[in-house]
Amino acid sequence: MSTHLPFSQACENNKGPILDRLRDIFTEPGTVLEIGTGTGQHAEHFAAALPHLQWQPTDHPRAAHLAVARLEQALLPNLLPMLELDVATTPWPVQTAHWVFSANTAHIMAWEEVEKMFQGIGTCLPAGGAFCLYGPFRHQGEFTSESNRVFDQSLKDNASHMGIRDIEALSELAEAAGLALRDDHLMPANNELLVFVRGG
Ligand SMILES: C[S@@+](CC[C@H](N)C(=O)[O-])C[C@H]1O[C@@H](n2cnc3c(N)ncnc32)[C@H](O)[C@@H]1O
Repeated sequence: MSTHLPFSQACENNKGPILDRLRDIFTEPGTVLEIGTGTGQHAEHFAAALPHLQWQPTDHPRAAHLAVARLEQALLPNLLPMLELDVATTPWPVQTAHWVFSANTAHIMAWEEVEKMFQGIGTCLPAGGAFCLYGPFRHQGEFTSESNRVFDQSLKDNASHMGIRDIEALSELAEAAGLALRDDHLMPANNELLVFVRGG
């Protein structure tokens, strides 16, 4: 059955290392808003491993169908039905969440969409809530590996609005939305897990 479901080998490889981190971050019960769920492999894996959380998968309307069959087959009571969420369109279908998770989205979205994502998250999260953003990032304009530089070029060749984002620029967006970068975890394959926390 599962061989016919949309599948990402990268998700299969990174879901274990990401879960190891999320266990120590998403410690309190609450709803996790996932932005850009993709195939649903992360949602299924994390909801199964973290039963104290209600996992809310979402994706842009053009992609939200991709995860539906996998999520329904998972039969997990804490895995909520897929919702359509384009970060650039308000109002969002989820208005409050204690946690937010998104993987490999910031370099796919246009920068204006990344701005909207942070603005929206700023209105969703309560004080103490956290936003975990996974993916490849640049530091002060520098790539962390040659493979990330090549990946960035391939993104731009494909569509000029895409590209690996600077952590400093993301931190500025976060601060404008009332969040602060608390941690930057180095992850396998030259990826990172950024943890933004809402103050107040
Ligand atoms: C490279 S995929 C990552 C999917 C999955 N999170 C993963 O790690 O495999 C990028 C995701 O970002 C989503 N996305 C792009 N623009 C978006 C937007 N404006 N609002 C919400 N999601 C968006 C895409 O639909 C896609 O699911």
